[in-house]
Amino acid sequence: MIIKAALPHDTSLSSDLKEVAPAAVSPAKVRAEPLIAASPGTLEPPARQAGISATSLGSRHFKADYQVQYAYAYVAGAMVHGIASAVMVIRMGRAGMLSFFGSGGLAPSAVEQAIVQIQQALQPGQPYGANLLNGSHEEANVALFLKHGVRNTGASAYLQMTSGLVRYRLCGLKRAGDGSVLARNRIMAKLSRPEIAAAFLHPAPERIVRRLREQGLVSAQQAEWSTQVPMADDICVEADSGGHTDRGVAATLLPAIQRQRDAAMAAHAYRKPIRVGCAGGIGIPEAVAAAFVLGVDFILTGSINQCTVEAGSSELVKDRLQELQVQDTDYAPAGDMFEIGARVQVLKRGLFFPVRANKLYELYRSVDSIEQIDPGTARMIQEKYFQRSLAEVYGTADAVSATLPPGSDRRTRSAQWPWHRADRRTRCPGGIPRTHPAIVSESLHQSPSAPRFL
Ligand SMILES: Cc1cc2nc3c(=O)[nH]c(=O)nc-3n(C[C@H](O)[C@H](O)[C@H](O)COP(=O)(O)O)c2cc1C
Repeated sequence: MIIKAALPHDTSLSSDLKEVAPAAVSPAKVRAEPLIAASPGTLEPPARQAGISATSLGSRHFKADYQVQYAYAYVAGAMVHGIASAVMVIRMGRAGMLSFFGSGGLAPSAVEQAIVQIQQALQPGQPYGANLLNGSHEEANVALFLKHGVRNTGASAYLQMTSGLVRYRLCGLKRAGDGSVLARNRIMAKLSRPEIAAAFLHPAPERIVRRLREQGLVSAQQAEWSTQVPMADDICVEADSGGHTDRGVAATLLPAIQRQRDAAMAAHAYRKPIRVGCAGGIGIPEAVAAAFVLGVDFILTGSINQCTVEAGSSELVKDRLQELQVQDTDYAPAGDMFEIGARVQVLKRGLFFPVRANKLYELYRSVDSIEQIDPGTARMIQEKYFQRSLAEVYGTADAVSATLPPGSDRRTRSAQWPWHRADRRTRCPGGIPRTHPAIVSESLHQSPSAPRFL
């Protein structure tokens, strides 16, 4: 994808610590298109000499499996709450490129609606997929994917193998003409840690297969075949990226996981190669080229797609993101994994969110209850951060926590501290419609893969 027109720099937004006045909103003038197509000159001179073209990059197995046209091994990653919208997935699919619908955080009924919309709009064989985001209605989404025959799934935020993933994978197994076992339900696992890669590079764990068999969710034949295929067709190594990030460095992480893949291929004698691609910080042709120099089979983008016409984010967000410079992002606690210290990369410029969220996290770590916060800090939080009393904030947080599964943080010490989460959800229902007054407190997931300097 490419940004065709960047908006002028808005000098009124000089600091994230200064209150910003509502700026004029102009509609984002961007449309989803193959990244490479708009800057043909950028890669071509040295590449042409070496006989390399945009279409020759990437794994041929990958291109064949996903039936991507023009042989572009470029994928648009899922973005939560339908920011990677059905419209985006349809446009990508019609352009012959794979993208994953952002099913994370959506109710299964909304996911089903999007799947039906995508399937009705695309011709058979045009590529599309949907995200299975760990912790977001896995069982219901797997059932939906199986019901509607969604063949491509992007699995993300997984820490270990789950029965939902195994069920999805096994239900698509079949014997191919050459006698090998064919996995029709493809999984692209996005991860940034070798131990998680290991789980996806291996066949389904026997104990999960046995349980699914006992529950009658997979057949005896599928259970038997499961030993012959890995859990994933593709591993997408996520270096430092927009949204949740382990702040990995592609140049070190990628070779480690490529070697791990090679070892797994040899150990299990899989017949089909497992592809390894990468994501994180890819937004311009040079970054694409750098990834392919590292030997990836495909690349995946995220942040840059958030500025496209087709993205489900608001015009206001798109405008803000088009002003982005490479130094305009920061790290903040992740609302959904606040308690374990997970981080997200977010837009910093013109927003209070990262500073405030980090301050709240510091407080969370330094005191045991809200009563222990010194009066000055408590006043600042109430007046500036939340514009309401701590009692009210806590009430909202408690209500939000009550919707979480049993065993979640509401029963622990951190029950006092889901403010960050409560505030985010209160201000930003569904994550999409954002208004001017509220946006300064918003968490806008983004990496510096900037449209600005295209
Ligand atoms: C706003 C936003 C929301 C995201 N939501 C999800 C998600 O729900 N599921 C997922 O697998 N990845 C999600 N991602 C990660 C992207 O799919 C992609 O892996 C990442 O953005 C790539 O790094 P980049 O942002 O530097 O391009 C999100 C990224 C952004 C920017």
